[in-house]
Amino acid sequence: MDTPIKILMTAEVLKKRVEELGRHLSQTYEGQVPVLVGLLKGAVPFYADLARAMTIALEMQFMQVSSYGAGMKSSGQLKIQQHLTESIEDRQIILVDDIMDTGLTLFEIKEYLIKRGAKDVKICTLLDKPSRRLFPIHPDFIGFEIPDYFVVGYGLDYQERFRNLPYLGIYTP
Ligand code: IMP
Ligand code: MG
Repeated sequence: MDTPIKILMTAEVLKKRVEELGRHLSQTYEGQVPVLVGLLKGAVPFYADLARAMTIALEMQFMQVSSYGAGMKSSGQLKIQQHLTESIEDRQIILVDDIMDTGLTLFEIKEYLIKRGAKDVKICTLLDKPSRRLFPIHPDFIGFEIPDYFVVGYGLDYQERFRNLPYLGIYTP
């Protein structure tokens, strides 16, 4: 059967880069205890691997938001479906997501975290699609910059499928 998915990055390539990012974050936040705020559901595989690649003390929290409908284009509206469960007052936050596309999600969530009293918010995404940006924001830590492909796997979905692929692929229906 023909698959609509072409491999963009293998599991080995992802693993190597995520481990590098983990080491870099550990050095950057040495002596501090950052809160890793992960965005469900897309960030899950990246978040789990990144956290385990970090060698410093950290805390974990999650939020769930949605900006996409079921398709391949953003709805342009953000809904918070699950809020933080513990205080982030005066904490250093590393906001972890799968991808920055238009920037809407992370722009709004960063504002939200600052309003909740965070001392500092830095953004870490596995992927960055800078050519799609509509909001004045940029990730502070990036795994890979990619062109305007629609990608799936390693957390990223098309209509909720393919999140469990261990690699990253380009989806062309
Ligand atoms: P933004 O708010 O436009 O930056 O979009 C962020 C969200 O859109 C991500 O967390 C993903 O859920 C989704 N998204 C953006 N690009 C892709 C893609 O290429 N594949 C799958 N999901 C994507
Ligand atoms: Mg999504």
